[in-house]
Amino acid sequence: MKAAVQGPDPSLVYRPDVDPEVAKDKGSFRNYRSGPLLDRVFATYKLMHAQQTVDFVRKKHAQFGAFSYKKMTVLEAVDMLDGLVDESDPDVDFPNSFHAFQTAEGIRKAHPDKGGPARHMQVAPCPQWAVVGDTFPVGCRPQASVVFCDSTFQDNPDLQDPRYSTELGMYQPHCGLENVLMSWGHDEYMYQMMKFNKFSLPQEAFYIIRFHSFYPWHTGGDYRQLCSERDLAMLPWVQEFNKFDLYTKSPELPDVNTLRPYYQGLIDKYCPGVLSW
Ligand SMILES: [Fe+2]
Repeated sequence: MKAAVQGPDPSLVYRPDVDPEVAKDKGSFRNYRSGPLLDRVFATYKLMHAQQTVDFVRKKHAQFGAFSYKKMTVLEAVDMLDGLVDESDPDVDFPNSFHAFQTAEGIRKAHPDKGGPARHMQVAPCPQWAVVGDTFPVGCRPQASVVFCDSTFQDNPDLQDPRYSTELGMYQPHCGLENVLMSWGHDEYMYQMMKFNKFSLPQEAFYIIRFHSFYPWHTGGDYRQLCSERDLAMLPWVQEFNKFDLYTKSPELPDVNTLRPYYQGLIDKYCPGVLSW
């Protein structure tokens, strides 16, 4: 298939695997069957899967789309994550600000001299907003690889609505993920925020941010019926980012203060100054 997207092939730009020092035991991540945090994780998804509806997501787009809530820099936003522990995450029980730096440092370590996209990937880990966890399309039936799929959607009213409860739901085949309404979370918020503030990053960086939590697609292999050729061309980029987003999670927390000057330099280049949130 001819890729719809021009630009470097990530499989050529990037090393084929993450640093083994970083990825100690990949099989132990994203365990949704057991573990000390499982009850908290399940409770978060139960609420999410009952309440993320077409109507809810449209309201959130309207609520946050004007970016009139707050003015702050990128690092001020990362600092705010000191107060957020991601309750959907079975691997992490420390503030999300560390996860942002861990992800960025993992990419920096594996791809130290790659200009362009690798640097963009370092500066674009996820400051979160309001809703955490994996995302999924609303407006169609959830597919099998959505976590807790069998036990969390009973109370979602969209699944009683014939417009939204078939495999395609309200979408045309291969309409492209850009035309799909995703469950509301930090992915879509950050994508819209980056667009609003005119970040000088390539389209791959925008795409990675928008779909990095869409595990049922980039890892589960579902929802191919909604994908365009552009989506399939972008998929390797999302998967490359995902390795660092996931496997750099470690209780060994980075010394954030020594890292700040380096990231301030990237921020000054790609997303400087006081931004609208
Ligand atoms: Fe994220």
